[in-house]
Amino acid sequence: MPLVTSKELFQKAYEGKFAIGAFNVNNMEIIQGIVDAAKAEEAPLILQVSAGARKYANPTYLKKLVEAAVEDSGLPIVLHLDHGESFEICKQCVDDGFTSVMIDASHHPFEENIAITKKVVEYAHSKGVVVEAELGRLAGIEDDVNVSEKDAAFTDPEQAAEFVEKTGVDSLAIAIGTSHGAYKFKGEPNLDFERLQKIAKLLPGFPLVLHGASTVLPEFVELCNKYGGDIPGAQGVPEAMLRKAASLGVSKINIDTDLRLAMTAAIRKSFSEVPNNFDPRKYLGDGRTAIKEMVRHKIVNVLGCNKLL
Ligand code: G3H
Ligand code: 13P
Ligand code: ZN
Repeated sequence: MPLVTSKELFQKAYEGKFAIGAFNVNNMEIIQGIVDAAKAEEAPLILQVSAGARKYANPTYLKKLVEAAVEDSGLPIVLHLDHGESFEICKQCVDDGFTSVMIDASHHPFEENIAITKKVVEYAHSKGVVVEAELGRLAGIEDDVNVSEKDAAFTDPEQAAEFVEKTGVDSLAIAIGTSHGAYKFKGEPNLDFERLQKIAKLLPGFPLVLHGASTVLPEFVELCNKYGGDIPGAQGVPEAMLRKAASLGVSKINIDTDLRLAMTAAIRKSFSEVPNNFDPRKYLGDGRTAIKEMVRHKIVNVLGCNKLL
């Protein structure tokens, strides 16, 4: 099966009140871990590539690795650009064979966000590619940009409806209190479900996207800490909140930080147990297994997109 777009997947997810997992990929082991998990759980997948990933791995290598995953697994896989910051990078990815792109013009004023998104939608749709946009701003770190809490802004429901109508975009990332990275909440985790419900009511049947949706499971923070390094105060989105978001119209849930934690914990453990090992296949293999287990857990217990194939 060739790469697919997310159109039908989102429709199924929306109707079934579950979500499709969108996992960030940076190298072969991460891709293999995610794909093995999806294969085991019979789940469709969105593999997403950030600008940082393109810079790290070289876009050609990443594209070929994802093609290998498609060929080897036979799974329905969407290749998605995560947080595309301009028309040019979105166009490049469309031309490179991505089946989905995100234009993130959320830091621009509303009308400008609409104009840039519309331009991307027109180009992408002419090539059969779907588009995600963002309205509102998440706090946290993306690439080298650190959005402070004061610059973060929750999505306005009326604006969301107007934005979708004017741009023709296929899905919309909204800000309801999540943020990127491992430090999402200072006190109790809290998402604005009332706002989510208002947005969903104004956009019936329309797939919403939740970024910054890692849970930062305490056992992985402990594992990371146990084998060296310390990430104090790390706190993510509780799994029950993610399940609730999926039941309210969030059809795509973005996860990166949890994969980073799982892989890092496994590699630290591997070195700690066999300090004189210098075969990368051992520690990277352990990292890949940890990614697989984490993604299986997400698919079955958080996203609910298993047994779909
Ligand atoms: O939204 C950000 C993702 O976690 C990707 O992170 O830009 O460091 O690759 P990155
Ligand atoms: P996390 O940092 O919570 O994993 O979010 C990832 C993300 O939103 C990628 O776009
Ligand atoms: Zn994001």
